[in-house]
Amino acid sequence: MRKVILAGNWKMYKTQGEAAEFLMEFGSQIDDAPETREVVLCVPFTDLDIVNKSLHGSRIRLGAQNVHWENCGAFTGEISANMLTEMGVRYAIVGHSERRQYFGETDETVNLRLKAAQRGGLIPILCVGETKQQRDAGAAEKTIFAQMDLGLQGIDLDRLVIAYEPIWAIGTGETCEASEANRIVGLIRSRLTNRNVTIQYGGSVKPSNIDEIMAQPEIDGVLVGGASLEASDFARIVNYK
Ligand code: PGA
Repeated sequence: MRKVILAGNWKMYKTQGEAAEFLMEFGSQIDDAPETREVVLCVPFTDLDIVNKSLHGSRIRLGAQNVHWENCGAFTGEISANMLTEMGVRYAIVGHSERRQYFGETDETVNLRLKAAQRGGLIPILCVGETKQQRDAGAAEKTIFAQMDLGLQGIDLDRLVIAYEPIWAIGTGETCEASEANRIVGLIRSRLTNRNVTIQYGGSVKPSNIDEIMAQPEIDGVLVGGASLEASDFARIVNYK
């Protein structure tokens, strides 16, 4: 059985006060969602403590937005898996396109981070996806397969989530057609030796398109940026029909 995972990626949004406000509103709005749906919030490092403390007894799982490949060392600005698990973190996004684009993340560093996440007991959420240019050139599949082949070397597929995030659909309001997202997610799955890996779609997921996205047979969940910042919007996504 493939697990359904609905994850919010807050990116660089929300102070601790704003995070606490969100949780007060959000918690009660997802009470009726089926237990089988895993709800994850990937929050800024500075929010981990307050979110962790507010989650006791809650079904929400805590996620981080990155993780370094060493346990400790002279790596200014980085954070390690054991620092995260100490804060109650279960998931970590790895290789988000914003990390690849603005912070020089490569498939090699993504691979190191994925390995470190798993070694440290975290479940990494590997993001893959093509740019508009690559799509227009007919190279979407090739791009994604290369990201997978390099990123997934030596990775345990039993403790992994993959998010297909077409870069042109992130934060643009331009969603990938649900059927096209389903096709790509199916292709991603066909390359995995474990067909039960949870594969999410991400890119302008909203209350208005979540039902159609989750109705696709290959798509097991979503990774949501903008619409995860508003409690009622993200609750509507978790409560998809
Ligand atoms: P978006 O971001 O939902 O705002 O498009 C998705 C993501 O970057 O994970």
